[in-house]
Amino acid sequence: MSNPAVCEELTAKSYEELTANFDWSIAERQLGYQPGEAINIGWMCSDRICHLGMADKVALYWEDFQGNHQQFRFDDLRVLSNTVAQFVCDLGIQPGERVCLFMDRVPELYLGFLGILKTGAVAQPLFSAFGDESLLVRLQNANTSAIVTQKKHLHKVRKIREQLPNLRHIIVVDAGDSALQAREVSFDMKRTPRVEDFAVYPTMAESASVLHYTSGTTGQPKGAQHVHYSIISQYLTAKWVLDLQPDDIYWCNADPGWVTGTSYGIIGPWSNGTTQVVLDSGFNAERWYEFMERHRVTVWYSAPTAIRLLMKEGTEVVRRHDLSNLRYLASVGEPLNAEAVIWSQEAFGKMFHDTFWQTETGCIVITNFPGMPIKPGSMGRPFPGITAAVLNTKTYEPITEPGIAGLIALRPGWPSQVRGYWDNEAGFKAKFKNGWYLCGDRASIDGDGYYWFMGRDDDVINTGGHLVGPFEIESALLEHPAVYESAAVAKPDPVNMEVVKAFVTLKRGYEPSDDLELEIMNHIRKRLSPLAMPQAIEFVDSLPKTRSGKIVRRVLRCKEFNEPVGDLSTIMDD
Ligand code: PRX
Repeated sequence: MSNPAVCEELTAKSYEELTANFDWSIAERQLGYQPGEAINIGWMCSDRICHLGMADKVALYWEDFQGNHQQFRFDDLRVLSNTVAQFVCDLGIQPGERVCLFMDRVPELYLGFLGILKTGAVAQPLFSAFGDESLLVRLQNANTSAIVTQKKHLHKVRKIREQLPNLRHIIVVDAGDSALQAREVSFDMKRTPRVEDFAVYPTMAESASVLHYTSGTTGQPKGAQHVHYSIISQYLTAKWVLDLQPDDIYWCNADPGWVTGTSYGIIGPWSNGTTQVVLDSGFNAERWYEFMERHRVTVWYSAPTAIRLLMKEGTEVVRRHDLSNLRYLASVGEPLNAEAVIWSQEAFGKMFHDTFWQTETGCIVITNFPGMPIKPGSMGRPFPGITAAVLNTKTYEPITEPGIAGLIALRPGWPSQVRGYWDNEAGFKAKFKNGWYLCGDRASIDGDGYYWFMGRDDDVINTGGHLVGPFEIESALLEHPAVYESAAVAKPDPVNMEVVKAFVTLKRGYEPSDDLELEIMNHIRKRLSPLAMPQAIEFVDSLPKTRSGKIVRRVLRCKEFNEPVGDLSTIMDD
């Protein structure tokens, strides 16, 4: 095993020293940014790295499941993101307009992201497995002006475009000779003349950069609005928490449709000048290990669901591969159980470092990092520069005794904090209490200051590290002709932690059957996404409701988890 290579800033100091003397200006200085100057993530992740003498360093090794592969140097990132930027500008897209990226993990997604940011437009990445309904809701909410997509996803865009009069351009990256329709335009990265020089738009610290959609309990998904200054947090957390060093080969499993895939699958590593690898394919243990072996991956950022899947495959398959370059492992998205940490020590000779954060935080906020002893099962401690607490659920005051559960809360003001929810001021305001930002999760803090995750505070379902809101599923269920009422709740699952379970009452004339169950599941998969598809549907005669008629998902959820339901005094009929 190679040795952990901890950067000087961390080796020199204890956690307490680091935290006491911390100032985000450390990152500003290292990135060469002076407050008041222009700051642009697209430029920072490409041009700046070239200016530092790393133009020829490999930025991205890309491959897909069929074995196609491509390689890009930092100078290629610079020039190709310029090329995208010029194309987008020539279409008339203005700074501040939203441009959606709706693609699998192809190189155009990564280069497109940087290119869009270089124009001053806002990048709106959406998971390519989204169905037309999920896509429509998010494009309507953001009033998106253009979408960049692949031929294979074009049918979903075509299905909804009449409902999106402001979607002026549908950019297809692999159109080839296919016939394009109104508003559609082809952009072939390989054939478009490379743009050596592009006047990067001088975005400022507070200019909008990325719009990521996250799920809430009620209402449609919320667009978390980030700004270019977020790179200050993403750069430093990638360096300190993921321990990125100049010679690292880094692999982040996440799709840029989710925040991990942009904060730590694009901005964090590339602002550090780190070489990264991308595998555009789903889970396959053998393939993953072979990929890591061949690319000599050194730092790996993954998720508990993936780790649990790997655990199921056992350590035998690990032994068949030379993973001796792997020196640092981290995880995000769901609680990382102690068994997974212990297994990783056995399988790879290294423990996974749990990291906690959210779409809204933009960067890792509570975490284990090199030099800190790991307590398996704990999320670690607040990143320096992050003031965290657990609050009493009634008074919203910090709990000072160790071991008492409360609401995870952060003092606003770190660079990558969400600046608002798009077109949803009330939803954003509701996230703050008593001067704290509430994460919507519960935890306790032990006597050493380590955080222990307890669970979510709301009805949002965490399936395989992805949040799914019950409201969106229930709305889509109601579109099915047989469904009268519905409630979507989490159900425990050994691999995905939670999956969606739907309780459904049927309209008169419909009878429960296996065929109907399958039909409803497929309806959700196509309209929303495979993640949102209920893994089980239970047909019931009625749903538990409050006296005012609101469905109480908590009751159904508790049954699934075999937990006590608690106070039922407000529920009408049980
Ligand atoms: O519930 C927490 C869970 O994921 C939520 C954030 O989800 P999202 O905004 O989609 O971002 C996911 C990737 C950053 C949190 O509110 N979560 C995230 N990390 C952890 C976690 N739960 C327990 N332990 C973690 N390390």
